[in-house]
Amino acid sequence: MRQGGEKRVVSGMRPTGPLHLGHYFGVLRNWVDFQENYTCYYFVADWHALTSEYAEPKIIKPFVAELMKDWIASGLDPEKCVLFQQSLIKEHAELSLLLSMITPLGWLERNPTYKEIRQELINKDLNTHGFLGYPVLQAADILCYRPDFVPVGHDQLPHLELTREIARRFNHLYGDYFPEPQAKLTESARLPGLDGRKMSKSYGNCIYLGEEMATIRPKVMSMLTDTNRMRKTDPGNPEVCNLYPYHRLMTPGDICQEIQENCTQAKWGCVDCKKVLLTHLEAFLAPIQERRRRMDDHPELIREILETGNTQARQEACLTMDSARAMLGFDF
Ligand code: TRP
Repeated sequence: MRQGGEKRVVSGMRPTGPLHLGHYFGVLRNWVDFQENYTCYYFVADWHALTSEYAEPKIIKPFVAELMKDWIASGLDPEKCVLFQQSLIKEHAELSLLLSMITPLGWLERNPTYKEIRQELINKDLNTHGFLGYPVLQAADILCYRPDFVPVGHDQLPHLELTREIARRFNHLYGDYFPEPQAKLTESARLPGLDGRKMSKSYGNCIYLGEEMATIRPKVMSMLTDTNRMRKTDPGNPEVCNLYPYHRLMTPGDICQEIQENCTQAKWGCVDCKKVLLTHLEAFLAPIQERRRRMDDHPELIREILETGNTQARQEACLTMDSARAMLGFDF
């Protein structure tokens, strides 16, 4: 692998379903940029998926390869970054165990994400040790690679704060070793879903990266636009329109300018605007779908990429564990 730079980046995603445009513009685009300037470790967090899917763990396996396909289709390049699978690097589990010894229960119980998700997923029993300890495993995922940055969405900030707190506590107890990794948030505005709410699988308002145009077209044509614009002759307002953020991300700047004018002067109806979006959305997705097709045709590619990535990740995680064990006098 060609290393992108001195500074290190680590991040992961849970394999619980196909990725959509919200993932791409929210986080993944950042990941792709970072591989040029940093040494990046990106992993499939399959153990983390188990915290909520433990009753039906077998659904996770096919999603691991699917997530890898979405990543590579989006531009992650195994020649430029380390792509690997969490559960095959057992050092994550060992570090998580050590860190669990020094993490006060109160930190985990007060974690806002913990409280929120427990209320949201009422159909699942999340009264488990594993779910409470989710951020400890996440801290281990991160600290195994002693990174400088962790690119994540806003929802992950409390977890990252906990990672820093746990690192600080380790350093305080056993000597300075772990860096306190910083979050790297994506600058871009969030992309709303088809109905204006956050794009999310559970709302059924997504456009998926691997989705065919045949199913995307009717979705786009039924998208919510400026709800104040009742008739085609009313002037519209792109600033409150749910379609315009899509244009801003995928339609060239000069055409966005034209859209602004045609919308605010009621020269175009929303249907016209949607047709223009479909053209640019299709152009945006074309290279992504082309790369995905190549992987669908060659399933062995993903296996090879993971094998290489796992070996590289393991090497680094083993170095960390050798030091961490020694600092506790567990280098028997
Ligand atoms: N908790 C993250 C999420 O739900 C996934 C994750 C697990 C992660 N371990 C991580 C992200 C380490 C960044 C770093 O999206």
